[in-house]
Amino acid sequence: MSTKSTKPFIQACNGENLSGPPPMWMMRQAGRYLPEYREVRAKISFEELCRTPEMAAEVTLQPIRRYNFDAAIIFSDILVVSDALGCPIHFPKGGPKAEKPVRTKADIDALVVPDAKEALGYVCDALRATKAQLPDSTALIGFAGAPLTVASYMVEGGASKTFTYLKSLIFHSPKEASQLLGKITSLTADYLRAQVEAGADAVQVFDTWASVLPKADYRDVVLPHLKNLFAELSDLTVPRIYFAKGAPHLLPYIKEMGCTMSGVDWSITIDEARDMLGLGPAFPVQGNLDPVLLLGDEGTMRKRVRALIDGVSEKRGYIFNLGHGIIKETKPEIVTALVDEVRKSTR
Ligand code: CP3
Repeated sequence: MSTKSTKPFIQACNGENLSGPPPMWMMRQAGRYLPEYREVRAKISFEELCRTPEMAAEVTLQPIRRYNFDAAIIFSDILVVSDALGCPIHFPKGGPKAEKPVRTKADIDALVVPDAKEALGYVCDALRATKAQLPDSTALIGFAGAPLTVASYMVEGGASKTFTYLKSLIFHSPKEASQLLGKITSLTADYLRAQVEAGADAVQVFDTWASVLPKADYRDVVLPHLKNLFAELSDLTVPRIYFAKGAPHLLPYIKEMGCTMSGVDWSITIDEARDMLGLGPAFPVQGNLDPVLLLGDEGTMRKRVRALIDGVSEKRGYIFNLGHGIIKETKPEIVTALVDEVRKSTR
């Protein structure tokens, strides 16, 4: 059984009544908008940084030192899972690129599910190194990509606008698509468990591209794997978050998915999201300021933050976050103002 946490982020994830402002963190909070991150990246490639635990821990801690967020998210990438399955991905300027995209049955057959602790032990080491330096009140979040989102990069070979290869695989060869999603799911379940064993206080599954499929294909081909993933993790006592970007029509599926909390993007309000989830007014959710508001005038940003927090009818189970990752052109000073505005709000 879980013992009561003293970390506000975890308390909110568990739906406890908090007296202060909502706990907060930001997706992509460790990254290129921070000069101290760019300084590290001038010396080492992104891939090397992910594979060097002490340095990954260092950049994980950078936004915590600057802003004292309630949660740190381990510095890594969702595509380490693709690499571990035998589909190496590199990160040149312009985004991720697979060495050889996975397109045929033979390509899928050739992928081998490795032991997560061996293949991805470097991420576990980074979690341990981070945990040792993190303030007691700060939670540490582990993460992975959702099977469909990881598959999208493996099949397309990189970013895509139309997802032609991925969707063709799902429409015309659903069995093969399922075989691929199954391999990713199997490794991801072991990997998230390994992250919890290494000290993650919560885990988040990022489904950035969930919205590219017709709803029925998502339900029939993708959802069963998400259910398997969360079923595999159901004995864990840590919060298990699912975040799909741009896909409010999929929120009703969360009910059967087995995650304990949902991310909400900027397309709808927190109250609307909770209505659509159908899991009660206090179901744990995090979100959902449009990150573009951090590029403009501070006064507008403060007003919108205020309105967002005031608009959350049930503060239990609510965590402040952005509706998607912070944009790299964001000035670090406006994030200071964001933190001030969120922390000024009372319940
Ligand atoms: O601070 C954090 O949130 C933790 C680290 C993190 C990264 N990627 C670091 C990163 C997390 C949680 C991710 C998740 C991720 N990676 C997602 C899901 C969330 C989302 O943003 O939708 C996706 C789709 C990826 C795949 C990926 N990795 C892309 C498309 C890119 C290139 C994007 C770009 O902006 O260039 C990456 C590279 C990447 N991952 C960077 C960082 C900090 C930039 C690398 C650099 O320093 O050059």
